[in-house]
Amino acid sequence: MNRKVFTVVAAAFAVTLLPLAGFAQTPAPPAAPAAAPAAAAHPPKAYVPGLEQFMNVILMEHNKLWFAGKARNWALAEYELGEIKEVMGDVQDTVPVFKNLPLADMLDAVITKEIVALEKAIAAKNFKQFAAGYDKLNAACNACHQGTENGFVVIKRPTTPAFTNQDYRPHKK
Ligand code: HEC
Repeated sequence: MNRKVFTVVAAAFAVTLLPLAGFAQTPAPPAAPAAAPAAAAHPPKAYVPGLEQFMNVILMEHNKLWFAGKARNWALAEYELGEIKEVMGDVQDTVPVFKNLPLADMLDAVITKEIVALEKAIAAKNFKQFAAGYDKLNAACNACHQGTENGFVVIKRPTTPAFTNQDYRPHKK
C-alpha cells in the first residue's frame, strides 16, 4: 500500500473510532487494534527475483561447472549443470515473458540441445567432449543475449574460479 492510500485508510479508521470515544464512561484502555492498520500497510509479499538475479546465479554455477569439468570431478560437474537447469526452470516459471519476448520458449529453443550434449559428455567423463560442449553452451547463452538486445552480455570460458574456498578436485572415497 502506498503512503497516500495508507493515510486515507488511517484517517477512515480514526473517524470510525471517534464516536465510540463519546460513549465511553471510563477511560478506554489503550486501543489494541491500532496496530492492525500498520500491519496491513505492509502485507508480506512473495519475493520474485529479477531476471538478472537468476542470470547471475547461472553465471556462478557456470563458472563452477567449468572448474569441476577441468578437474574431472564429474559428479560435481553433473551437479552444477543440474543447478543451472533448475534455475533456468525457475526463469521459465517466473519470467516466461520478458519485455514482450517469449523467454520460456526461447530457453527451450536455444539451450536445451546444448545442455543435453553436455550431460552426455559428463556421463561419458570425456573432457574433450565436455570442453566442446561448454563452448557450445556459451554460444547458446550469447545467442539469447543477442536475441533479447543484451548482446553486450558476453559469456566465455572462465580463466579463474570465482571462488577459491571450494575444492573442485574429485573427492577420493
Ligand atoms: C532465453 C534467453 C537467455 C539465455 C538462454 C541465457 N540468458 Fe542470460 N540473460 C538473458 C536476458 C534477457 C538478460 C538480461 C536480463 C535483464 O535485463 O534483467 C540476461 C542477462 C544475463 C547476465 C547479466 C547479468 C548481470 O547482472 O551482469 C548474465 C551474467 C547472464 N545473462 C548469463 C547467462 C549465462 C551464463 C547463460 C548460459 C548458461 C545465459 N545467460 C543464457 C537471457 C538469456
